This record gives sequence, structure tokens and C-alpha cells, in this order.
Amino acid sequence: MTRILSDLAPILFRHRLTEMTVFVTAACNMTCDHCFVIDELNKKSSPLTVEELKKMAPHIPAMQRVHVSGGEPMIRQDLPEIAVTLSNDWNAGYVCVPTNGWYTKQTINLIEHFGQHGKGHLRLFFSISSPHAEDMDEFVHKKGAFVRWRETVKQAAEAAKKYPNITLLAVSVYTDHNQHFFPELVKFVLEETEVDEFSFHPARSHGTYRPTLDLVNYRKVLDEYFRSGYQGSPMMRAYRQMLREEHLKILAKEDEAVACNAGVLRVVVDPNGNVYPCEMRGFPNGDDRESWHMGNIRDADFDMPALLKSERARAVVDRVADEGCLCRHELDTGAALISQPKFQVRLLARAAKHAMRSYPDVRKKRPAAVA
Ligand SMILES: C[S@@+](CC[C@H](N)C(=O)[O-])C[C@H]1O[C@@H](n2cnc3c(N)ncnc32)[C@H](O)[C@@H]1O
Ligand code: SF4
Repeated sequence: MTRILSDLAPILFRHRLTEMTVFVTAACNMTCDHCFVIDELNKKSSPLTVEELKKMAPHIPAMQRVHVSGGEPMIRQDLPEIAVTLSNDWNAGYVCVPTNGWYTKQTINLIEHFGQHGKGHLRLFFSISSPHAEDMDEFVHKKGAFVRWRETVKQAAEAAKKYPNITLLAVSVYTDHNQHFFPELVKFVLEETEVDEFSFHPARSHGTYRPTLDLVNYRKVLDEYFRSGYQGSPMMRAYRQMLREEHLKILAKEDEAVACNAGVLRVVVDPNGNVYPCEMRGFPNGDDRESWHMGNIRDADFDMPALLKSERARAVVDRVADEGCLCRHELDTGAALISQPKFQVRLLARAAKHAMRSYPDVRKKRPAAVA
């Protein structure tokens, strides 16, 4: 029952937490050109332990998704226990873990442990910036990164075969560096790698990183991908396509209509247990971090709903609403959109349209995804 509630949470609840991002480490072995966490990487921190995550569990409402983030999550040796705790104790419908693909053995350990003990779903995202080895190594500033990525994905796909509750994805960020050859990257991922799914989104600016993105080209890439590359169900095709379309409008400053619910539907926990409304307001980005600080989960006896009810947290939520935010973060845009009845109706209509059409299966190595 809780698990069904987890899946439906974003549709049923408009005024309470349905998603969370937990930064489980600040450590990383790379320094990618676009990284929005770059200024926080490898700083001394005290991330939540498995025991502390378990203490949070009785207070956590049914949640659709919990995003693990970092730094590089695979650096945490106890990541397999963390993922299973979020799935089994928190009852998260999906546990999402991004990785740069460097740590092959740890990735296999995570898959085996979650496959054997996890009750929900694990979505493992392998970040890739280019189909060319030298180019990717340069972008992430780590020699051998591309070759390690390929080996890790290959071994992960073999290990994950046994576990239907584990999905492997490649994830790319559309940057000023790769936008000129992005279709080549899409083709490479779909035809040459062993992942089940692919996901991509445009780079967000932060600090001095201000990429000039060709959004007309991005639109073309999106259209082509959803016409001939995407392999998921009609509902997921509709949701992902519509989310990206809405997000694109926001980026092109054509539409400011998505009222941001950050701090209500979704919060971010930093590698010291501090809670903020989103990644752009508090951690890791945004000016005046202290003013977006909703509280520390350790000070709130690990009770997230109680923390969010505090005067301080409610003042932050009011400020998010008052200041009106042109949200550039797809996770927040998605959480806000899916909770709106108008969007839900449009989504159903678009899904029905997709269900009546057939789309080509371009994947060569793996069966179609069932996301
Ligand atoms: C911060 S990383 C942490 C996990 C892991 N180290 C990795 O790179 O996958 C999480 C995701 O954020 C993406 N990312 C980094 N900087 C970004 C930016 N400026 N805009 C959008 N996504 C970004 C990364 O490419 C990665 O897919
Ligand atoms: S691997 Fe991930 S956390 Fe590390 S620098 Fe790259 S994007 Fe940032």
C-alpha cells in the first residue's frame, strides 16, 4: 500500500513532500567543466550515516523518488546500504543514483546488494558528456574516464540482468561543449552502449559558469529523440516530452507560469544534514545560502516533516513563492507540473495520442525499456 502511495504521491499530494535529494558525499575524483557542485567538492563534511537515515525513516511520508547526489556517490563504501535503506525503510518508489562511471567494482556491489535486498526500484544514471574518449577525458579532467565508463556500464548491464527492479540509464548534459555533436552522442548511447534508457537535459548556469546554449538546436535534438530514439511507455514518453517542452519554454523565457513548489514538494539535504528548498537556493548554488537554510535534520531529531513545519522553514517557502522563481531545475519543474490537474489532463491526452502511434525501436543491443 505504501509503495502504491509512493508512486502516486506527486499526483495526490500538492502540499507535502514527494521527492528529496540527499547529497551523500562531497568527495569526487573528477572536476567536470560544467559541474554545479564544483565549489563544494572535497570540502570537509559530515554526511548522514546509514543509522541517521534509518532514524529519519519513521517520519518520512510515502515518496515517489529519492535522488542520491554528490560528489561521486560511489565513493561512499556504504552506498549499497544507503540505497536499500532509502528503498526499504523510507519506502521510496524509486531510488535514483547518478555516477561518473569510474568505480566499476563499487557499482557492481551496489547492483548486487540492491538486487538482493531492495524492495523498490533502483535507477542508476551513468553520466556521459561525449562519444569521443579524449574529449570526455578532457571535459571531466580525468584520463581514462571514457574507457572506465564503458567498462563499468558493460559489467553493470551484465550484473543487472538478474534484477528486474534495476534500470541502467545514460545521462548527458547539453552544454556549449557538446551541443555541436549532441545527435552523435545520442546515437552512440542508443546504439553502442548497454544501458536501458537515456536521459538528457540542458546545462544550468552557476557562479561563473555561463554556457551559451543553442536552444533552437536543443529543440531539434529533443524532437528527433522523441520521434525516433525514446523507447519508454506512452505515458512516460508523454511526461518526459512535455516536461522538457515546458522546461525549454522557461529557459527561452517564454513562460514563467510554473509556480515553484520547492521547499514543499521537494527539498535538498546537503552533505552536512542542512535542508534547503532546492539546489539553486541554498546548496550547492545560490547567493546568501544562510537565508535559504530551512534547518538541520540532526537538530530536528531526524523528523523532516517537523523541520518543514518550523517557522524558519515556512518563511523560506513563503519567500520562494513571493520572489517567484524562473526555475531552471528540471526536477523542481517536474514536481510542480505533475501536481497540477491541468497538466495531468494534458498528459493523459498526449499519452493516448502516443499509444495510438508506433515508434521505431532503434536499440541494437538491449530490449526496449519499460520505464
Ligand atoms: C553533480 S553530479 C553527481 C553525481 C556524479 N558525480 C555524476 O557526475 O554523475 C549529478 C549530475 O549533475 C549533472 N550536472 C553537473 N553540472 C550540471 C549543470 N551545470 N547543469 C546540469 N546538470 C549538471 C552531472 O552531469 C550529473 O549527471
Ligand atoms: S563527476 Fe559529478 S560531482 Fe564530480 S565533478 Fe563531475 S559532475 Fe561534478
